Amino acid sequence: MTEDIPALFAKRETDRFAMHSRHLNEQMVRVLKAIGYDVGFCRGTGQYLYDREGKRYLDLLSGFGVFALGRNHPAVRTALKSVLDGDLPNLVQMDVSTLAGVLAERLLALVPYLEKVFFVNSGSEAVETAIKFARAATGRPGIVYCEHAFHGLSYGALSLNGDEIFRGGFEPLLPDCMRIPFNDLSALEEALRLRNVAAFIVEPIQGKGVNIPSDDYLKGVEELCRRYGTLFVADEIQTGLGRTGRFLAVEHWNVQPDMVLIAKALSGGHVPIGAVLSRRQVFEKVFNRMDRAVVHGSTFAKNDLAMACGITTLDVLASEGLIENAARNGENLLRAFVAMKARYELLSDVRGKGLMIGIEFGAPRSFKLKASWNLLETANKGLFCQLITIPLFKEYQILSQVAGHASHTIKILPSLVVSTSDCEYIIRAFDAVIAASHRVPGAVWSLGKTLVDHAMLSRV
Ligand SMILES: Cc1ncc(COP(=O)(O)O)c(C=O)c1O
Repeated sequence: MTEDIPALFAKRETDRFAMHSRHLNEQMVRVLKAIGYDVGFCRGTGQYLYDREGKRYLDLLSGFGVFALGRNHPAVRTALKSVLDGDLPNLVQMDVSTLAGVLAERLLALVPYLEKVFFVNSGSEAVETAIKFARAATGRPGIVYCEHAFHGLSYGALSLNGDEIFRGGFEPLLPDCMRIPFNDLSALEEALRLRNVAAFIVEPIQGKGVNIPSDDYLKGVEELCRRYGTLFVADEIQTGLGRTGRFLAVEHWNVQPDMVLIAKALSGGHVPIGAVLSRRQVFEKVFNRMDRAVVHGSTFAKNDLAMACGITTLDVLASEGLIENAARNGENLLRAFVAMKARYELLSDVRGKGLMIGIEFGAPRSFKLKASWNLLETANKGLFCQLITIPLFKEYQILSQVAGHASHTIKILPSLVVSTSDCEYIIRAFDAVIAASHRVPGAVWSLGKTLVDHAMLSRV
C-alpha cells in the first residue's frame, strides 16, 4: 500500500510541534512559540504561505533563498513528474548522467568564462568541494575568508564561518583558515603575500547582515588573487540565480572568479542540489589520472530529479523574466525604504541589490526612544529587530527574518515572483510597524518588555 502523503500531513500536522519537541529539536519549537510563529503552515504557492485557518502570509524569507521561483511552481512539478514517469536510468554510477551533461552545458553558457561543473547535494557540499579542489589545484594549504561570512555548517564550511555563535563548541576546526575583514583589500593582500593561500572565498554580498562591498572591492580581489596565485572563489549560494537582479551577483562588479558556487534556488524549491562552476585547470589538477576519476564525489549528486529541477529552474528564470523582475521590484523597494529613512530616526541604513535588501536599525537620538533602546540592548543585543518582525508577522502576515545573530538588520529575501502590489504591501506594512516603534510607550515597546522577560527566563 502506498501511503497518501498529503492525507498523512493533514492528519498529523497539528502534532508537529509535539513531535518535534519529543523527537527532533525542542529548542526550535520553544523559539517559534516564544515569538508566536507557531501558526502551523499548511499550504504554499508562489510567494505565499497559508496557515491552518487559510490565512495568507507573504514570505520574505523564501526558505533562506530556496524559493526563487516561488513554492510549488507548476513547471517544476511537471518536470519532476515526467522524470518519475520516464523510467530513466538514474544514478547508474558506472555511466555518466545525460541530464547532468545538459544542466552543466546550460549553466556554463550563462557563465562563459568557466569550463567545468561539479554537482553536489547542498551549499555546504559545494564549499567543501571548493576547499578540496583549491588545495589540490594549488598545492597550498591556506583558505582565507571574511568576518561575518556564512558558507555552511559542515566542518570545512564551518571553519570558514565568520561568527563565533556557529563555531562555539565545535572546535577544533580545519587548520590554515584565516579570517580577514570583509571589504578590506589591504588585509587581503597581507594574507596572500606569503603565497601559501589556495583560495579566497567570499560572498559578493554577505548574507549575514546584507553587507555590500564598495565598488572597487571585488575587482581588487580578482587582481590580488591573480597576482599571488590564489584562487578567487565566489560563494553565490544565496546571491546567485537572479537574486540580486543579475544571474550572478559578481556581474554587478564585472569580475570573473575562478570558481563560482551555487545551490539553493537551483533546486526549484524541491530537490537539493549544489554546483561548483570552475576553470578547467582546477579540474585537471584534481582529476589528473584515471585512477583518480572518483577521487571526489557524492552518491546522490547528479541524480535525475535534482538535474530536472536545475534545468527547469533555468528555463523558468528566463521564460518568466524573473531576473528582470528581481531588478525592477528590488529597485522600487530600495527607493521606498530609502525615502522612509528620512522619517524614522531608528532606521539607520537601507542597502541591497535586487531582491536581497537589508533594513538596519540603530540607536535613536531622542531621549525617550534612547532610554527604551538602551534598556532593550542591555538585556539582549539585537532584540530590537524582533519588535519589527513579530508585528509584521502577526498584524500583516509577513514572514521575515533578522539577518544574523545579535543583528540590527532585517533581511528581505522574497521569491523572485513577487508582484508590484506585494511590494507596495511590504512598504505599507513596514512603514506602519516602524512608525509604531517610534511611539513610547506603545504596543511595540510592551512587546519588547515581554521578550526581555522571556529571554531572561530562558537563560535560567
Ligand atoms: C552564502 C551561503 N553559502 C553556503 C550556505 C550553505 O548552504 P547549505 O545550507 O545548502 O549547506 C548558505 C546557506 O545559507 C549560504 O547562504
